[in-house]
Formats: sequence, C-alpha cells, structure tokens
Amino acid sequence: MAGLGAKPTERRYTLLVHLVGETEEQRAEVRKVLEEVSDPPLEITEDGAHTQVEGSGDPDIAMVIFDGNEAVPLGYLQAHAERSPRPLIFALLRDQSPMLMRRVLHAGADEMLFLPLDIGAVTRALLKLSEKRRRSERIEGGVIYSVTGLSGGVGLTTLSANLALALCHAFDRRAALVDLDLQKGGQGVFLHVEPEESIASLIDFIRKLDSIRLESALTKHPSGIYLLAAPNSIEDAERVTDITVGVVLDLIRQLFDFVLIDSGRHVNENAVAAWERSEEVLYVLDQSLVAAHSALRFIDLFGRLGLRCEEPRFILNRYDSTNPVTEEAIVKVLGRPIFARIPRDDRTIEKVHLRSHDLWQSAPNSSLARSVETLARRLNARREATPEVVPGWFARLLGAVGARA
Ligand SMILES: Nc1ncnc2c1ncn2[C@@H]1O[C@H](COP(=O)(O)OP(=O)(O)OP(=O)(O)O)[C@@H](O)[C@H]1O
Ligand SMILES: [Mg+2]
Repeated sequence: MAGLGAKPTERRYTLLVHLVGETEEQRAEVRKVLEEVSDPPLEITEDGAHTQVEGSGDPDIAMVIFDGNEAVPLGYLQAHAERSPRPLIFALLRDQSPMLMRRVLHAGADEMLFLPLDIGAVTRALLKLSEKRRRSERIEGGVIYSVTGLSGGVGLTTLSANLALALCHAFDRRAALVDLDLQKGGQGVFLHVEPEESIASLIDFIRKLDSIRLESALTKHPSGIYLLAAPNSIEDAERVTDITVGVVLDLIRQLFDFVLIDSGRHVNENAVAAWERSEEVLYVLDQSLVAAHSALRFIDLFGRLGLRCEEPRFILNRYDSTNPVTEEAIVKVLGRPIFARIPRDDRTIEKVHLRSHDLWQSAPNSSLARSVETLARRLNARREATPEVVPGWFARLLGAVGARA
C-alpha cells in the first residue's frame, strides 16, 4: 500500500495507452517519448496494427501510428471508430499533408499528433484528457460525504447517521451509511440494528464486486437508509484495505443518491481512500480549543494530500451559546469559518437512545433535527449549484480534445 504522502489520486488517474503500429521500430520510437511523460501517469501496451483494441485490457487511448503504409492504420481506425465503448483514438502522423489529415479524421480519429512525437504536445493532449476524466468522475453517481475529526467523541457517528437519516426522512433521497470506523463500529449500535454482514464480507469478492454482492452486505434500517457496517471482529477490520474501500465506494455511489461515511478519527489509508472520493469532507469539532488546534493539524495534512475536494467544512457540534469557548475563539484558531453549528441537545439525544427510535421518529421538530436538515439542505444546494454534465465520461472526453461532433 502506498504511503499517505503518495497522493493516491495519481494512481487512480493512470491512463492506459495502447500503441498500435505495424513495425516494432515505429512503436519503439513513440514508446520512448511516452515513457518520458511523467504526468499524467501512463501504462503502455503495444501491438501490431491488426490487433483488436479489446484484447488489450480496455485502454483509455489507442495511439495509431501512420508511418508509410496508410491502408492498415486507416482500416484499424474505421474498424474501431464506430464501436461503443471504445478508447479515444489518437492518430500519429509522419506525413502532415492536409489530405491525409482529412482522411484520418474521416476515419474516426479523435486527436492528431505528429511524428516525431513532441513530448510537449503529447503531454498537453494527455493532461487535458486526464483532467477531464477527473472532473467527470467527480460527479458520476451519488454524492459522497465523509464525516471525520481527529478528536474522539465529538459526534462523528451521531452526525453521519443523522445526516443519512435526514436525507432519507426529510428529503426522500436514497442514502447509505458506511461505517469506516472499522475497529469501533458504532453505527450498528447507534441505529439499533444487528448487522450480519459487513464491509469485510466483500473483501474476497473485491476484484469482481457487483451490485448484488454489495447489496447483500448492506443492512436495511427501518427508516429506509442502508448501513454498510464495520466488521464484528478487529481481525476482520484489519483486513479491510484502501483497495476494498475504494472499490466499495465507487460502486455504492452508483446505487444511492447520497453516501455518508463515518470515517472515524484515524488518519490512515482507508480514510484517505474515502476522502479522495468525497465531494465534501465534513470535519466535526466540539467547542474546545483542543479540538480547534487538532483541526489545524488536519488542515495541514489535508492540503498536503492534494485531494480533489476543497478544504474540509468545519461543523461545530454540541454547540452551546453559554460555553466560555466561543465560536469566535474557535474561528480565530482555525483561520476559517464554521460551516454549520449543531446545537447541544442532550434531552433529545437521550430520548432517541431510550426509545430506540431515530431522531425523525422521536423528535422531528427538535432543534437538533432541524439543524441537521439545514446542514443537509446546504450541502445539497452546493451540489445542485454545480452544472449538470451529460452522462458518460467517454462522450465528455471526446469534447475535451476537440474531437468529432
Ligand atoms: N448535538 C449533540 N448534542 C448532545 N449530545 C451529542 C450531540 N452529538 C453527539 N452527542 C453525544 O456525544 C457522544 C459522542 O458522540 P458520537 O459517538 O457520535 O461521537 P464520535 O465522534 O463518533 O465518538 P468516537 O470517537 O467514540 O467514535 C454520544 O454520547 C452522543 O450521544
Ligand atoms: Mg464514532
């Protein structure tokens, strides 16, 4: 597993490039330049011009070399251009005649580059692609919110579950809750359910995880939300890796409108795998200077991780206006605003625990329920303010490289 500083996003955005050229020399010349490209990271395969693209493990890009005999690469282009799905096709031309360029475009090439390949030109085309993919993946499927914090007992379990419940009860959205506080696993207790399955049930199927298998590991709560519980044993908790977390989150977001993650207070690779897939990271702190100073350390780490989401949003939980540590004092330490305040409401919390009902069944009009709803609404509003994107990242890739209409 990579270290925390290794920016796991980079692993995820490796582009698979399949090189198609008649002779080994032609391919070697191009490969040499591609191997010098460090960003975006590339994985290169190659073959003769007659090879089917599908045989090379679903590449993102096929680079087809036109060097001398045009008939073979043109035939390749024509054969692959109309297929769906297909990789993006780059034509690499030695001859810069407008006639050949036109024929190559007609045959279905999405991008043209010239030989000898210029490292600047190819890097630019590849970067455009990987950036576009990064952006398109960001809004594919449901929205993931991670609820995290470095101090213990600040309300991560309570807030992540209540946000999922609010989205379900008050906004009628499909919400899942993922308990990534793996060793503690407090969500089952919080929701008064006894999960038989957990995220550990998926480890052995992670290479070919499908929605049926994933659904079988979820526990349905009477409210309508689904819980992917933490494992029952600490040994099983230790078997869950960032790969498991990544695959599970990429799939679960396809099944729900919202995925709430209780990422616990541990900074580890599992948490990073969750944060890097999250539209928002909600950092929870209580009304103490210790919590505010811990949050500063988190901000520092978060910046160094280079994640795709913005800075975390700070949620002040158990807010009490009579507490001598004021919100202003906390903001002063943080140097950032508080995104939302959730009031301290011991009576309502007690009622919820005693009745084994959720907050919206026991006290839907409480200040606690209202404040969680307001937070959910604000988060949702931020998302809806972002422009809708047409479905299918491949179509968007075509647009990114100024490809065919
Ligand atoms: N807004 C609130 N008002 C009153 N009590 C609250 C509030 N939010 C959480 N609590 C209480 O604070 C305690 C800690 O909450 P919770 O278990 O959600 O924190 P946590 O950050 O998940 O803790 P841990 O580090 O143990 O996982 C619980 O007893 C919970 O009922
Ligand atoms: Mg907890």
